[in-house]
Amino acid sequence: MTDQKATNVHWHHGDITREDRTQLLGQKGATLWFTGLSGSGKSTVAVALEKALYQRGKLTYRLDGDNIRLGINKNLGFSAEDRTENIRRIGEIAKLFVDSGVIALSSFISPYRADRDRVRALHAESEYAFIEVFVDCSLAAAEERDPKGLYKKARAGEIKNFTGIDDPYEAPQSPEIHLHTDQMSLEEEVEIIIDYLQRQGLITLA
Ligand code: ADX
Repeated sequence: MTDQKATNVHWHHGDITREDRTQLLGQKGATLWFTGLSGSGKSTVAVALEKALYQRGKLTYRLDGDNIRLGINKNLGFSAEDRTENIRRIGEIAKLFVDSGVIALSSFISPYRADRDRVRALHAESEYAFIEVFVDCSLAAAEERDPKGLYKKARAGEIKNFTGIDDPYEAPQSPEIHLHTDQMSLEEEVEIIIDYLQRQGLITLA
């Protein structure tokens, strides 16, 4: 846990509530938390889902590992400590998006179960929906895809602490959604998630 450093600070409520924003947007905010190995397809699924939801009039925003690490988290690397801080910050950012009424699509390896569970707890405190999506793919398949050529470098010892090679990945034990990207089509995966959102009453489609 990160301790509160500043003192004498208090949450300031506005006049427009979360319910007002839900009404305005015609959707409930939620976080879809995609977790899985590098190259498992987290970003690919998030991009396809974003498009499918946009076409149905639903507002999402993607928070993506590489993008976020080029900006707000540019001062973080891949040590266990930095990965934990990376996920903590993203968890807080995702929560702000949920509060705004947007569906946050968060794609980070997030290899540590405890870090993901902390983000889940952060959402639960405010009764916000947190949907863990395990983007499951065998290491062999991810390594075969190797879209950024990073597995090759990690095997050659040019990248240290690479998830799945010389750094751990703790798979979710009971994710809300479990995709097998080495066996399912992208269309199927998007459909599974949209069905889930509908069944949970987070979106209603015309
Ligand atoms: S996380 O572990 O902190 O959740 P995050 O999803 O933000 O990781 O970033 C992972 C991305 O950073 C990978 O997709 C890959 O492109 C790149 N990367 C660079 N070095 C590493 C590393 N040592 N382990 C994992 N990914 C790395």
